[in-house]
Amino acid sequence: MNLLERLRQSFAAATPEGGDRAAFAAAVRPSGDAKFGDYQANGCMALAKALKKNPRDVAAEVARSVDLEPLATSPEVAGPGFLNVRLRDEWLSSALERVLQDSALGVAPPETPKTVVVDFSSPNVAKPMHVGHVRSTVIGDSLARIFAALGHKVIRDNHLGDWGSQFGMILWGWKNHRDEQAYAVDPVGELARLYRLAADQIKRAEVLQEEYKAAIRLKREGNLDKAISLFAQISSRSDVPVSPSGPGFAESVLAFEETERLIERGKDVEEKTRAETVKLHSGDPENRALWDQFMPHCLAALHQIYDRLGVTFDVELGESFYDPMLADVVTDLEHKGLAVESQGATVVFTEETEAPFIVRKRDGAFNYATTDLATIQYREQNWQPDEVLYVVDHRQSDHFKQLFAVARRWGYDRTDFQHVAFGTILGTDRRPFKTRAGDVIGLESLLDESVQQARKIVDENSGELSPEERQHVSEVVGLGAIKYADLSQNRMSDYVFDWAKMLATNGNSGAYLQYAYARTQSIFRKGETTPEAIRQLAPTIVLTHPAERGLGLRVLRLPETLEMTASELKPNILTDYLFDLANQFSTFFVECPVLKAESPERRNSRLALCDLTGRVLKRGLNLLGIDVVDRM
Ligand code: ARG
Repeated sequence: MNLLERLRQSFAAATPEGGDRAAFAAAVRPSGDAKFGDYQANGCMALAKALKKNPRDVAAEVARSVDLEPLATSPEVAGPGFLNVRLRDEWLSSALERVLQDSALGVAPPETPKTVVVDFSSPNVAKPMHVGHVRSTVIGDSLARIFAALGHKVIRDNHLGDWGSQFGMILWGWKNHRDEQAYAVDPVGELARLYRLAADQIKRAEVLQEEYKAAIRLKREGNLDKAISLFAQISSRSDVPVSPSGPGFAESVLAFEETERLIERGKDVEEKTRAETVKLHSGDPENRALWDQFMPHCLAALHQIYDRLGVTFDVELGESFYDPMLADVVTDLEHKGLAVESQGATVVFTEETEAPFIVRKRDGAFNYATTDLATIQYREQNWQPDEVLYVVDHRQSDHFKQLFAVARRWGYDRTDFQHVAFGTILGTDRRPFKTRAGDVIGLESLLDESVQQARKIVDENSGELSPEERQHVSEVVGLGAIKYADLSQNRMSDYVFDWAKMLATNGNSGAYLQYAYARTQSIFRKGETTPEAIRQLAPTIVLTHPAERGLGLRVLRLPETLEMTASELKPNILTDYLFDLANQFSTFFVECPVLKAESPERRNSRLALCDLTGRVLKRGLNLLGIDVVDRM
């Protein structure tokens, strides 16, 4: 049962005449401090203001009329007009006794299940996955798990970027620089090399050109010192040797002719890769055959990482899948009078955003926007989703604002489209997270490093485990650390990737929760019993100690936590809850002897609380995509 929702309904029913029921109900919250009861209804002040009444009188009136039975007696009026609800101990006990026997841990199926599409991970293939792909993958996976656990129908869609300009680069590289032997041994490695070959030349040309222009401008302005140092930088970047110093250096003609050649060559590569992309898109048989040949290798490499992360998809309909539909999308938009010509391009104007949404570029090419519109149409026709979540970097928020506005005008106005945006991963220097050499960090090596770091901690703490067990625990802790660190942030903020914090065993970290879970299990081993045996005994649950009561109450908050996480699309609501639960368990563990309890009844009751805590921790972590182990 969703306890919070249940209380909100009771308070909604007791809203005084003329008051806003929804707002009054929404102001019911768990209390931050047990002194003020278990839940608080804080809506009386706002209501009194609206009704021009005394807030304490309003509170007293609600306290008299609200019916919270059998959960609680009348709430108590406190302060300027708060209502404090204290749940009955008997009710808490019997609710926990029910949950002890319930494999769903109190989570009930929804009245009307929704169909929810989660568009996540969605990397541009043909480049190796890097640290930037972590967030979408981990956040999307967790939200998908949570919606499914709440009883909704979830379609997990990996909207692969498998049709973009990166293929033009690979095709160009393949035709001009391929190493067939290397490809036979490690296809993805070779494709990545070819991609980088093209990308580096293009990028270098862009940078060189900017610097070169700036250097020449500085020189013309007579700013000789600065010009010389910039020329020196250019020469180091372009591997062109120049005489080391002196004003004559800036005129070192040979050097800069070579620089100009590099810039030209880079631009030429860019031109040619673009032509390869155009050929691929227009159905050129050679490029299409190469694409067909490369794709399975690219997908296999991605799936190796997904498997390791425990991430699955129901469909992987990448951009290429929608390519045949793009022309019809634009025609339809034109027929409906939504798309118009503007400066040679075809665009849709919307009221919500200033800039028009370009659906066909001046050169006739369709783009990311057209593909996303075709994707919406396909999903609507095939799945009729109630909700579509796009788990994508916050830098794309303008795109999604426009996309959703156009989709609504196009007629898809019943679906709730949500851009689940997130910030950037930063290094401890607060700059975008890179290797020491300044490269983006490959995802695979990041996972390896995390597991290695976890191994150190496991070796320190888990001396009694065998080396194989320790390796397994390290894998679970290492991957959990990366996921938890990501999910426990408010997703909108940038977050600092900090190994020490991520792997701390005593803070809000994955490892801390995994240890808490393992502790719930070790009690059973020590007591030479099992959770199943305790469930079978179905003991009466006693909550007379405040630490027992606090723990029991938190166990019962799983359903409301999951629903709030899903409605706000914020996995950190779930991590905060689990962290609080683990802390409460720690208090309980210190204050309430379990195996040495004063009576067998009390012992079984406390073992039942350990079992419930363990199951909620395990389920909660599982919904974050994080595994647990029984022994650490
Ligand atoms: N492939 C895109 C990128 O890497 C993300 C795609 C997100 N999903 C979507 N339907 N636009 O930026």
